[in-house]
Amino acid sequence: MTTIQNIIDTHAARKAQTILRGAIYNIAAERNLMSELNEVANTAVQSILVNSTHPASKQMRSVSVSQILDRMNAYALGNMIKEMVVHQPEHAFTSIKDCFNDQHPSDTAYKMWPWVANIIETFGDDALNLNISDHIPDDLNVSPTSPTSPTGYDVTDDIAHAANVLLKVATKGEMDDLQGLLDEVVALRNKPAPVAAAAVVPASGDIPAGEPRRVNAQVVFGLKDKLLDMEITVYDWEYDNPLVPAKDADYIFNVSNLADALWAIETKNNAWLTGHTGTGKTTFIAAVCAYTGRMMMRANMDSAIERPDFVGAMSVTVDDDGNQITKFVEGFLPKAMQLPVVMLLDEYDAIRADISYVMQPVLEGGSLRLMEDGGRMVHPHPDFHIMATANTVGCGDSSGMYASAVKVQSRASINRFPVFIKVDYLSTSDEMTLVRNFAPHLSGTAENMLCEFVELYRKAFREGTVATPISPRNTITIGKYVEAFEKRLGTNRAIKRALEMNIMNTIDEGDAIAVTGIMDRITG
Ligand SMILES: Nc1ncnc2c1ncn2[C@@H]1O[C@H](COP(=O)(O)OP(=O)(O)O)[C@@H](O)[C@H]1O
Ligand SMILES: [Mg+2]
Repeated sequence: MTTIQNIIDTHAARKAQTILRGAIYNIAAERNLMSELNEVANTAVQSILVNSTHPASKQMRSVSVSQILDRMNAYALGNMIKEMVVHQPEHAFTSIKDCFNDQHPSDTAYKMWPWVANIIETFGDDALNLNISDHIPDDLNVSPTSPTSPTGYDVTDDIAHAANVLLKVATKGEMDDLQGLLDEVVALRNKPAPVAAAAVVPASGDIPAGEPRRVNAQVVFGLKDKLLDMEITVYDWEYDNPLVPAKDADYIFNVSNLADALWAIETKNNAWLTGHTGTGKTTFIAAVCAYTGRMMMRANMDSAIERPDFVGAMSVTVDDDGNQITKFVEGFLPKAMQLPVVMLLDEYDAIRADISYVMQPVLEGGSLRLMEDGGRMVHPHPDFHIMATANTVGCGDSSGMYASAVKVQSRASINRFPVFIKVDYLSTSDEMTLVRNFAPHLSGTAENMLCEFVELYRKAFREGTVATPISPRNTITIGKYVEAFEKRLGTNRAIKRALEMNIMNTIDEGDAIAVTGIMDRITG
């Protein structure tokens, strides 16, 4: 049996709060209390206990359930749990809403915000003695940690109180828990480097508030495989995050590549994905981000991207008083670095030498010095990740397929990508599954012909007989086209027309001869 008191007694303050918050979300989900919980946030919006100058008020960037729970200490969270477990749903949060509606809250409310200090006695021990074993999320390790700070930063109550008041004033109300901060510092220090630090993402601009959660990768991707039996971080956002790619239910994962990419992210290693055009490198990273709720920022590293776009440049703008001023505008790299995003650098083997040079310290996890902005240093966000895609492994192109765009990368640059992931085309049967998803009425004959075409074409591409790669995007379009026309034209003619429309018209004469040969073979 685990009571709320047990958790408070056997864990550092921060950890106890995390466990209790997890229990609150679990109970809310089990008892259908989510909308009631959101009502609490709606009440808090107008409360003097939130974002006001009242001494017991807490600052929040956006007033949400997660931010409210984050500001509550373990006793307050324990009380909330009792409210949820003991009361009728409609009455579960009456007392917390009463506190938020109180026009003259006591200053002491901040000891057990949003409740007044002595409420714990009024509620009695029953709240603390509540057995919550069944409600603790499985993925939280609740084996006891030291209840006091692991470094022995043991601050006595009165000093802690004074320090908390000072801290609160100094941070304009954003922080008021010195012990919590110390615990966090110690936890960070003790953290085995170089693991990605997942943290709550505060809302700003278009980006909503986000909260990380640890889940088994098999659950996240709905795939059962030993390789994926690992805990990973996923993010939940308060509302749609514009930087998280949309989930494509049709995407077919290669489990081995997926496990490597997740490992790279979890261990904060840069990953280099190689493979022919159209093997799905770009969509793979987008799909990983979509499933894990991670934000992604993508830049195409072809030679068109120059230093001012990538790093930033001085630019003339008008200030509030209408005066012309010059101001440094950050480029893609510094913007991305400061956010918990996966930065996808596409076609990295075509990168210009001057950009590659700028990337060196960043690839090593270091900071970026903006020479153009007086040498200002930009520090990477702890949950910032780098993934690069390329047709080659950066050593130039021996096949001659990509020679014009590809530059040989320096060893120094390649060495900074410890994880290499080789992406191959989908198996033809998987590719046909995709085609069927998009063209469900395609005849069996047409499907077999298309399957044969793809196999022969990919073979010709590997052997160098044709130089233009085709991707599943082509196959899907061809499938959809044939589905629409085959009843009217017959399968053979529909396939020929589709191939002409989608492939023949986009390739050069040499390729066209080879493709005509393949076409004749399959339409026989
Ligand atoms: N495993 C896959 N599952 C679903 N679609 C895929 C898969 N691999 C590739 N595709 C499709 O193939 C097309 C090309 O993929 P893309 O990511 O642009 O390739 P690359 O970046 O390797 O050139 C996209 O339309 C994508 O939807
Ligand atoms: Mg790509």
